[in-house]
Amino acid sequence: MENIHVNLGKDSYSIYVQNGLLDILGPAVRRISNTDKIAVISDDTVDRLYGNRLQTTLNNSGISSKRIVFSAGEQSKNIETLAQIYAALSDFSITRSDAIITFGGGVPGDLGGFAAATYLRGIPFIQIPTTVLAQVDSSVGGKVAIDLPSGKNLAGCFYQPKAVFIDPELVRTLPERITHDGLAEVIKYGCICNEKLFTLFEQVSGDDEINLCWQEIIKTCCEIKARIVEHDEHDTGERMLLNFGHTIGHAVEKYYGYGTYTHGEAVAIGMMLLTAQTEALGLTERGTAERIRNVLQKFHLPVMMEASEKELLKYIGHDKKKRGDDITFIILERIGKGKRFPVLGPDISTYISKGDLA
Ligand SMILES: NC(=O)c1ccc[n+]([C@@H]2O[C@H](COP(=O)([O-])OP(=O)(O)OC[C@H]3O[C@@H](n4cnc5c(N)ncnc54)[C@H](O)[C@@H]3O)[C@@H](O)[C@H]2O)c1
Ligand SMILES: [Zn+2]
Repeated sequence: MENIHVNLGKDSYSIYVQNGLLDILGPAVRRISNTDKIAVISDDTVDRLYGNRLQTTLNNSGISSKRIVFSAGEQSKNIETLAQIYAALSDFSITRSDAIITFGGGVPGDLGGFAAATYLRGIPFIQIPTTVLAQVDSSVGGKVAIDLPSGKNLAGCFYQPKAVFIDPELVRTLPERITHDGLAEVIKYGCICNEKLFTLFEQVSGDDEINLCWQEIIKTCCEIKARIVEHDEHDTGERMLLNFGHTIGHAVEKYYGYGTYTHGEAVAIGMMLLTAQTEALGLTERGTAERIRNVLQKFHLPVMMEASEKELLKYIGHDKKKRGDDITFIILERIGKGKRFPVLGPDISTYISKGDLA
């Protein structure tokens, strides 16, 4: 079994990536969790598609499990669902020597992970991500959270899982738009630190070819994220690189009120707008924006939006990673080499101009 180690001292864990893993992971879960009682937190779509298969391998390894299921979607990532999960954990008499599995995309991962971090002051948990986004990004790194009425991910903490089990075959049932949404983050990894990964997307003709290489792609992305997280567990330095495309992307999501564009689509626009500008300003190797545009368009990701820079600028200030009036953008020197680039408040508009894209 492919195994990527995330070295975080006493909070170290492994990420296992293998096609078909869902049906055989029971024994490894039993060994790692060291319990015969596990609560599985999932959404109704994932539970319907894969819940029985997970429960069967757990059963076969002598683990009794309870499936705690909520309605699929971001609107469930809130304090009400969290309260229902606490009640279900209590009904199942989960103790600190038992364990929780979060099973699904980033929503069950973040919400279930936050329940695990806080119930009884912390229950060991294992992530089994099922979307591209969750397999390459949200399940690795230990950020867990719920949304509050005042904003996304506002109540949360850092809480590392005991293990992450990834079966790349599970992404085959995703709707195309959700696959492409996650792909935007993969393209981002290529942009900031792995030209070879980026080149793969330039070379393939489209989705059919990508579907043959998920296992390799996901392994590469987890390796990248694991190394970055090891150096910066609590997001104060190097982890900021992962923010490429996100400062503008978050503003796009907020401007349109979450719903018009998915997160990945907004990040695609962010990567594109920023790189077109930094290239025009001579900060980025010539031809980079064109390469990004070609890859994004191949996977039906947007490279433009209607909002004017002025409108967007109002929403840049809401980013919780921003300190004072100034901002640190992540920009590309070239494909495969991202870097931090501090910008003074009054200059921010220069970097979100649509420039020659308009
Ligand atoms: N913790 C982190 O570091 C981190 C990083 C990025 C994003 N996030 C969070 O992740 C969330 C978004 O994640 P997401 O896009 O995975 O959302 P999600 O969990 O809502 O999944 C998207 C949709 O896909 C469905 N689905 C999941 N797996 C499926 C499968 N294999 N086949 C068919 N359908 C499937 C789900 O039921 C859901 O309807 C956001 O809440 C975001 O804040 C967290
Ligand atoms: Zn993102």
